[in-house]
Amino acid sequence: MAKSKNNAKKLSFISVPSQIINSISSSSLQSLLESPKKSSRTSIFTRKSTLLWFLTLFLVGFFGMFKYGFNFDTPFPQKLCSTTHQKFSLSNHHSISNLGVNLLLQKERKTLKNDHKDEFSKHEKEQVFVSHVELGAKGSIGFEKKSDFWKQPNGLGYKPCLSFSRDYRKQNEEILKDRKKYLMVVVSGGMNQQRNQIVDAVVIARILGAALVVPVLQVNVIWGDESEFGDIFDLEHFKKILENDVRVVSALPSTHIMTRPVEGRPPLHATPSWIRTRYLKRLNREGVLLLRGLDSRLSKDLPSDLQKLRCKVAFNALKFAKPIEELGNKIAERMKSKGPYLALHLRMEKDVWVRTGCLPGLSSEFDDIINNERIRRPELLTAKSNMTYHQRKMAGLCPLNAIEVTRLLKALGAPNDAKIYWAGGKPLGGKETLLPLIKEFPHFYNKEDLALPGELQPFVKKASLMAAIDYIVSEKSDVFMPSHGGNMGRAIQGQRAFIGHKKYITPNKRHMLPYFQNSSLSEEEFNRIIKKLHKDSMGQPGLRTHKNGRDVTKYPIPECMCNAMPHILNSDLHIKTKASDT
Ligand SMILES: *[C@@H]1O[C@H](CO)[C@@H](O)[C@H](O)[C@H]1NC(C)=O
Ligand SMILES: *[C@@H]1O[C@H](CO)[C@@H](O)[C@H](O)[C@H]1NC(C)=O
Repeated sequence: MAKSKNNAKKLSFISVPSQIINSISSSSLQSLLESPKKSSRTSIFTRKSTLLWFLTLFLVGFFGMFKYGFNFDTPFPQKLCSTTHQKFSLSNHHSISNLGVNLLLQKERKTLKNDHKDEFSKHEKEQVFVSHVELGAKGSIGFEKKSDFWKQPNGLGYKPCLSFSRDYRKQNEEILKDRKKYLMVVVSGGMNQQRNQIVDAVVIARILGAALVVPVLQVNVIWGDESEFGDIFDLEHFKKILENDVRVVSALPSTHIMTRPVEGRPPLHATPSWIRTRYLKRLNREGVLLLRGLDSRLSKDLPSDLQKLRCKVAFNALKFAKPIEELGNKIAERMKSKGPYLALHLRMEKDVWVRTGCLPGLSSEFDDIINNERIRRPELLTAKSNMTYHQRKMAGLCPLNAIEVTRLLKALGAPNDAKIYWAGGKPLGGKETLLPLIKEFPHFYNKEDLALPGELQPFVKKASLMAAIDYIVSEKSDVFMPSHGGNMGRAIQGQRAFIGHKKYITPNKRHMLPYFQNSSLSEEEFNRIIKKLHKDSMGQPGLRTHKNGRDVTKYPIPECMCNAMPHILNSDLHIKTKASDT
């Protein structure tokens, strides 16, 4: 409510041209932000804004005609925008709209001291505002282009099915009865990495017939987030969903508290029989096993029941804690209130460029920053080190940058009034690096833009909770596209397939990048080629195959989803699967 007051105050002292912009942005903002239940305190403001709207429609129409009439060489609209923008920035430093993003950009621009700042001219910035005004005006009279872009895949008839075998169910009772064996795990990395390890920990506990002590989340050196399991996930829900599979306990019982645990770290691709052979005897003797470094250790090829268990943990048991879930849902609703939206997971953070051994494509200054960091801390590089930057890039091993994402989305038919939620941390080079995207798609928001003042406060210093909010809003989007593979993209791909095959675009980087560098291609030709390359990687489910050790939580078919339309041949899926595997 504080926000409405703010807006009202703002609206009362600004001059006419800025009212146009302000009322466009604030009313679209308002409908984006306000829940259906409005308190009576806002009604005065609402009446005021209705009046303003009539004025706005009239003026926009008037200026629209004006602009059309002089479209060819008069600089008038741009002038209008730059002056109104100055006033706007005076009256509103904490806007939550896309204009707010731009103001932030402006602010950051001033503080950025490098060559990079010359890349965006004054003219370009003004263009951003022109397109804001134009889109605002279109939006106000309900203009919405139909586009194939939002069309959803049919999922080929696959539906979730997690029914366990009779043998598995027969073992439940005995496993749940056990009071001797306890598995403790320490999980590490970012939130999505920890999530994967928790999934594996449940499966390992089941393999060993041990109770699982609520996983300990290791504090990460990069992110420094001290959140515990219960801060991120809904522990009661976790216990309840798994109550027939694994006993989950909050702490070691007093009978075991003095035990010195057997410690271990499974090798890559550890199989259930390896785990039993290696740990079971000692666990029976000592009572407590402590595992760490579980990342991608458990084999991806497990017996069918254990695959189902992995799906059950990933898709059903691991729900975010209530406060996160609530804010995530609110933000998703704000996005959704204006129609379908695309969630983009951008991987442009400094540590991502360093780890992947790629260059951010900004300027030589930023290349130097990355190179120096890599020299200083060679252990961070996880990519193949015998490749040059160019080889890595062309092999599809690098995150896409903002210009590439923009061109890809345009080629795939994303309308320029598409609403985009971008997930991810602060890009190297600041929000300014996102300008190519914002210019093409002005309805461009992240959680900071969409949260009301104070809403994000409990989460800001906690990277895992912030990542969880991104996860929720991305998962609920109509279309999802990551700029690079990774734990979050993987998890969301599986989850979206599981809950109904919501469209997921996998950029076919290796095949598309040569066309990005060919300047003799016309835009039409480029778009046609890019569209064709992505025909089969636009969200139809991929099949988990043994050959490439695919993860069932990314490809839930066939173990966790069954086909209600048996006439669809698997060969069909194989083709689609191959195409989307980059
Ligand atoms: C890099 O090394 C791997 C194996 O270590 C090899 O398969 C690959 O061809 C090498 N790449 C280049 C560009 O030399
Ligand atoms: C660029 O595209 C044109 C037109 O399709 C093609 O003839 C040419 O070989 C391409 N150039 C490169 C370097 O791939």
